[in-house]
Amino acid sequence: MKNLTPFYDPMLSYEDNYAKGPFGLFATPEETQDKSIVGDTKQRETFAGLPVNSLFGIPAGPLLNSNYVKAALAHGFDLCVYKTVRTVPHKSHPLPNVLSVHPEGKLSANRDTVFADNSYTQPLSITNSFGVPSFSPDIWQEDMADAVNAAKEGQYVIGSFQGTQGRGAIEKDYALAARLVSETNAPILEANLSCPNEGADKLLCFDFDKVERIAGEIKNAVPDRPLFLKLAYFSDDAAVAPLLQKIGHIIDGFSTINTLSARPINRQGLPALGADRIEAGVCGDAIRWAGIDMVSRLARLRQNMDLNFSIIGVGGVSTFEHYQQLREAGADAVMSATGAMWNPNLARMIKRNL
Ligand SMILES: Cc1cc2nc3c(=O)[nH]c(=O)nc-3n(C[C@H](O)[C@H](O)[C@H](O)COP(=O)(O)O)c2cc1C
Repeated sequence: MKNLTPFYDPMLSYEDNYAKGPFGLFATPEETQDKSIVGDTKQRETFAGLPVNSLFGIPAGPLLNSNYVKAALAHGFDLCVYKTVRTVPHKSHPLPNVLSVHPEGKLSANRDTVFADNSYTQPLSITNSFGVPSFSPDIWQEDMADAVNAAKEGQYVIGSFQGTQGRGAIEKDYALAARLVSETNAPILEANLSCPNEGADKLLCFDFDKVERIAGEIKNAVPDRPLFLKLAYFSDDAAVAPLLQKIGHIIDGFSTINTLSARPINRQGLPALGADRIEAGVCGDAIRWAGIDMVSRLARLRQNMDLNFSIIGVGGVSTFEHYQQLREAGADAVMSATGAMWNPNLARMIKRNL
């Protein structure tokens, strides 16, 4: 596949991408787009009880603000997640934030060492290391509301959020974030429990008691909105089944996977993101196997445990075949971050094949 200009520029800081992006085709007005590849369908599917044009979109991260969300909606991504926000301002890590990584064969879930550089060749895998930056709610609430409003019939903007450590009981901060997101009228909420910043062992989604408290507090704070939880990769059924036992009946769905942790190094063998960021999340082509594995795991357990949650399948999708693989594994909807960033036509390509 030929490389298109990504809508997020890895050479620029997060702040510059926020202020100047999106780039490439996402920067062009809707009228100038190539109409020959438009394959939009109208409300032929249902997701989380809502009529949707297609079961495809972009997960939390690449859509930094309403300018990005509006561009994605205009390019036919019908389920768009507005980037994870917090209840307090939080700065991004400095550059580099995104590098291309070149694992030899399949990336394992065991923190492989991978070579990283600026050569974004297909099939593309990248590392992303931002630290989940956020502006303060008085800035993002207005902007998220604007993004929510831009969705046309059969399109939805999902609000992603997370709590911040050091602000008292974490579940209270998650609940506050959920309430602030709900005030923007986002029709679906997504709580990020899988941010790798604090080390892969410390991911919130691996602490089932905490997840139960967080899900309970969010549901109390915002009972009227579907709640999805963003999960990391779990390597076997037995590891995730107890979590489903605890919360499978109170939440509405899961989005999975986030990234797989790895150790990116440069040509000199040094940590490519700097000495203070030895590990980072890898996404894109190298993690598709894990996305498919995790989605089939959740679908199997959903059936065996007689639960009803929806599954958003994420991980390494850059073609219609990849979309199909996740759907066949049991995903109710599919999203692509890396694939969409480097191919703004991805939703149209997929819809053309439906
Ligand atoms: C630039 C970038 C930023 C991301 N930021 C977030 C985030 O803020 N919250 C979150 O839940 N996931 C975040 N992710 C993870 C994606 O939502 C997704 O789970 C992951 O990239 C795997 O999908 P992919 O292989 O299609 O990229 C980010 C991913 C990328 C590429």
